[in-house]
Amino acid sequence: MEILDAIKERRSIRRFKQKSIGKDIIERIISYAAYAPSWKNSQTARYIAVLDPRVKDRLANECLMNFQFNVNTVNSAPAVIALLTQNKRSGFERDGSFSTGKGEHWQSFDAGIAAQTLCLAAHAHGLGTVIMGIYDEACVKEVLSVPEGFSVSALIAIGYPDEAPDAPPRKDSSTLLSYID
Ligand SMILES: Cc1cc2nc3c(=O)[nH]c(=O)nc-3n(C[C@H](O)[C@H](O)[C@H](O)COP(=O)(O)O)c2cc1C
Repeated sequence: MEILDAIKERRSIRRFKQKSIGKDIIERIISYAAYAPSWKNSQTARYIAVLDPRVKDRLANECLMNFQFNVNTVNSAPAVIALLTQNKRSGFERDGSFSTGKGEHWQSFDAGIAAQTLCLAAHAHGLGTVIMGIYDEACVKEVLSVPEGFSVSALIAIGYPDEAPDAPPRKDSSTLLSYID
């Protein structure tokens, strides 16, 4: 798949076929996500793939802040990937001080790149994804036994798409881009 096609054609998918995804394909996708750039190549992203329907149900019923949209998505998806990032590493010096005036900002920045890299790799393997930001982090940490020192940066539902939504409208380059020339 051409990268430019993948960038344009990837869509957020919220309805999935009732077909499981194998660990082999998840591992393949994560092996591509590993190529995401990160602060000083710190590679602080970690992934927990939730395949167990009982645990997935707990996420849906307890951790999604009653946001029905996401509850429906998680119920539909055969798997949910929790994207974790290690705290106090991205944007930090070895002595624990911030490297820049933007403080902890770079942790989320790295997480975003990792998430999009994962979603594009999934798309190239015929899988659909949606990044979800509406969840109760403390609840997800408890249900998934997230190790100390990690944040839950996003939940990503993944599976074989059972919908083909149109792209939501995008702003054009004249709005997005300015020059200093
Ligand atoms: C940080 C972030 C959080 C998001 N949270 C949610 C969410 O909680 N639920 C959801 O259905 N979509 C969520 N989305 C998906 C966006 O709604 C979607 O990317 C946007 O509408 C553009 O559609 P597209 O991904 O198909 O291009 C999120 C996307 C990002 C990047």
